[in-house]
Amino acid sequence: VTSALYKPADILTPLRWDELFGRSGPVEVEIGCGKGTFLAWAAKARPTSNFLGIDRLLLRLRKADRKLLRLGVTNVRLLRLEASYVVAKLIPTGSVAAYHIYFPDPWPKRRHAAKRLFRPSFVCQLRRTLKPDGEVHFATDSADYLAEVRQVMTARRDFTEAPAAELPEEARTDFEREFLAAGKHIHRCRFSSSRAGVPSMFPAHGAAAI
Ligand SMILES: C[S@@+](CC[C@H](N)C(=O)[O-])C[C@H]1O[C@@H](n2cnc3c(N)ncnc32)[C@H](O)[C@@H]1O
Repeated sequence: VTSALYKPADILTPLRWDELFGRSGPVEVEIGCGKGTFLAWAAKARPTSNFLGIDRLLLRLRKADRKLLRLGVTNVRLLRLEASYVVAKLIPTGSVAAYHIYFPDPWPKRRHAAKRLFRPSFVCQLRRTLKPDGEVHFATDSADYLAEVRQVMTARRDFTEAPAAELPEEARTDFEREFLAAGKHIHRCRFSSSRAGVPSMFPAHGAAAI
């Protein structure tokens, strides 16, 4: 197993998943993957899927990389770039099965609004890059941010909301663990780009196991 850190030869050429992973398979993307705790769990839970983790902090990605190496995980690549740039410019249309966006910085102050990830243009790019039955999984500790994300995700009917996916404790991200330890409430939800109610590959929270 070698490093999962991927350095593109140039940052203008769209990614080619088969080349990046050396095989085909459903692609899931985690935005702001931090130290890779969720990725490590998901990559083991879905060994035939391919995972891309994006974060702009190299130190966190190095930690993620070491974790993945230690676990012998081979179906993850890590990319150090600005996430909205990657989604808008590097991810091919209709190619992503799921996005995972957990605890992005909410930037609650009005003067920081431009730094927020969930803007109409970003939502449009999520929709463009997802497969027709693709999903966006989201979590935050901020009720205000949840309301804002719901609003922007469903404003143009790009997405419909569905119950959050059931996740085991092991899948909890580092920030989630910290927020839970501090007694905070975690809000989770899922948005689907499917219009026809296609069954999801991710079981719903509280749904009976089949
Ligand atoms: C609050 S942390 C959450 C990390 C992880 N998802 C977790 O739950 O433990 C937000 C992460 O997103 C990354 N991030 C924030 N904005 C980003 C952007 N525009 N592009 C790439 N990464 C970003 C930060 O570097 C940080 O690692």
